[in-house]
This record gives sequence, structure tokens and C-alpha cells, in this order.
Amino acid sequence: MTNRITELFQIEYPIVQAGMVWNSGWKLASAASNSGILGLIGAGSMYPEVLREHIQKCKAATDKPFGVNVPMLYPNIQEIMDIIVEEGVKIVFTSAGNPKTWTTWLQEKGITVVHVVSSVKFALKAQEAGVDAVVAEGFEAGGHNGRDETTTLTLIPMVKEKLSIPLIAAGGIATGRAMLATMILGADAVQIGSRFVASEESSAHQNFKQLVVDSKEGDTQLTLKELAPVRLIKNKFYYDIQELYQKGPSVEQLKDLLGRARAKRGMFEGDLEEGELEIGQISGLIHDIKPVAEIVKDIIAEFEEAKKSISRM
Ligand SMILES: Cc1cc2nc3c(=O)[nH]c(=O)nc-3n(C[C@H](O)[C@H](O)[C@H](O)COP(=O)(O)O)c2cc1C
Repeated sequence: MTNRITELFQIEYPIVQAGMVWNSGWKLASAASNSGILGLIGAGSMYPEVLREHIQKCKAATDKPFGVNVPMLYPNIQEIMDIIVEEGVKIVFTSAGNPKTWTTWLQEKGITVVHVVSSVKFALKAQEAGVDAVVAEGFEAGGHNGRDETTTLTLIPMVKEKLSIPLIAAGGIATGRAMLATMILGADAVQIGSRFVASEESSAHQNFKQLVVDSKEGDTQLTLKELAPVRLIKNKFYYDIQELYQKGPSVEQLKDLLGRARAKRGMFEGDLEEGELEIGQISGLIHDIKPVAEIVKDIIAEFEEAKKSISRM
């Protein structure tokens, strides 16, 4: 398969394994890259020197292209960016911040820059900032998200209408049919997160992976809009947030409840009650934990089959 995105990243299939805090270390990223898609290390949950170690291990485990996802809301960004340059990483996905801040600096060092957005307005700002491609992420997605609740089905064609640079769709995509659907709507590629949480190579705790497999439609909710909106599994921590909302809390009170290291506690350490468990709506369609290579093979086979059945219609 060849298009603007496969050429931009030098990959076989137009699929990106999403950067995900506590889930996408070197094992997941290298397995994804070795499967013919673009693997991303999620720097958001890593201290700078931990990131360096993951990049070095990823380089040793694959000779295919891979990248690093950098959510710009975390501290130490300068240090993170310096390590990315020193280690010779060629692709960076930035998110949760202003694309103007780092795009030119990275591109001057020969790095391809992609920025993640959740609206048409921010897609255009990213294009103006000179990024090489945009990820447009719908409200269905796991993890942090936009405030506007725009779904992937509506966001992708609206972004496509305005944007001229390559477009990667994200949010609610876990199958070959969904991949084809978003490409029909105008995407050049897809970014997949939740499906890869339930992979053998994800660094998520086994308890969390199993909960993703067991979860059903309606088990997630976007919450904490006053801080940074995030889609979570409805566990005890989620219901504690809801209880606090009944009292009309201040932002400070919400921050206090969130506290520190909730995401690590939930997704990495497996505390399913008190932890923050980030996952997308599509978890209701994820029924098994499989090696990344198998997940990619199944998605591509279903994509090809769906293309054939559409052309027979
Ligand atoms: C557990 C988890 C952690 C995430 N962490 C990040 C992150 O660190 N940076 C980021 O840009 N997006 C993050 N996301 C969003 C993903 O990169 C991706 O865009 C999203 O998962 C796509 O939607 P899907 O979950 O329906 O596949 C995260 C998503 C999940 C499920």
C-alpha cells in the first residue's frame, strides 16, 4: 500500500501505533514497527533518561522507522527534545500544546513533525505552524481529548475539507473496516491506541489489559473537562469524581482528587479501583490480548476484505 503517509514515514501500511502513557514503551513501538506500521514510544510517562533508554532499546529491536510521542503539557520538554535529537529519532508526534513551539526547531534537525488535534480550528493552526501531517482525534478516543465532543465520523471530513497536508484519523478505530471507513472519509492513515493497549507487548499491567477486554459499550466516559478532558473506564476513581461533581467542586478540589501518579497506579501498577484507567469507547469491541503482529495482520486482512465487499456493492 502506498500513499502520502506510507511515503512520509517509509512504512508498509498506513497505520500508526499511538503513543500512550504507561502503555507504549520500546517493546510495543518496536513490535509495531517490525509489523510494517509506525511504532511510537510514549514519552509522556517517562523521565528524560528513561526515554533515552527506551529509544536505545527500540533502535536495537528494529531497523524500521519509529517515532516518539511528546505531550507538551508535561515538564522537562527541552530535555526530552534534546534526547530525541541526540538519539537520532526521525519522527516526533507532539500533542497537548501549541504546535508552533517545537515544529520548526525539530524540522531544522531533520525530524518529521506530526501534531495531534481534536478540532478543525487546531488542525489549521498545526498546518500553519508547518507540521508535516496532522492526527485528528475524535471524542471516542482513549486518553486526553478535546472539549468539543466532536466524533471521528464528523471530525475527519470536516478537517479534510480544509486541510491540504496529510491527515491521520484517530478515535474509535480498532478494525480494518473502521480503517477503511475513515480513509473513505478523507484520512490518509489511522492512529490506533486502545486496540494496542490489549497487546502482549504493551507495558500496561495485566489487570488493566484484562479489564479492557472485559469492558463493554458504555463502560467509558469523558470527564475532568475543567482540568484536561480524559476518557476513563468507569471504576471507583471515576465514581469518586462524579460524587465530587455533585458538590460543585473548584478546579483545585478536582486537582486534589486526581492527585499524583493516578495513571501509573491504574494502568501500570494494575490498581483497578483507585487508578486512572484511560481507554477509548472501542474497548467494547476488543475481546482478546494478542501479539502486535497478529493485530496488524488481522486489521490489514479485514481492510482488504472490506474494500472488496464495498466494490461489489
Ligand atoms: C492509555 C492511553 C494513553 C494515551 N496517552 C497518550 C499520550 O501520552 N499522548 C497522546 O498524544 N495521546 C495519548 N493517547 C491517545 C492516543 O494517542 C490515540 O490518539 C487514541 O488512543 C486513539 O483512539 P483509540 O483509543 O480509540 O484508538 C492515549 C490513549 C490511551 C488509550
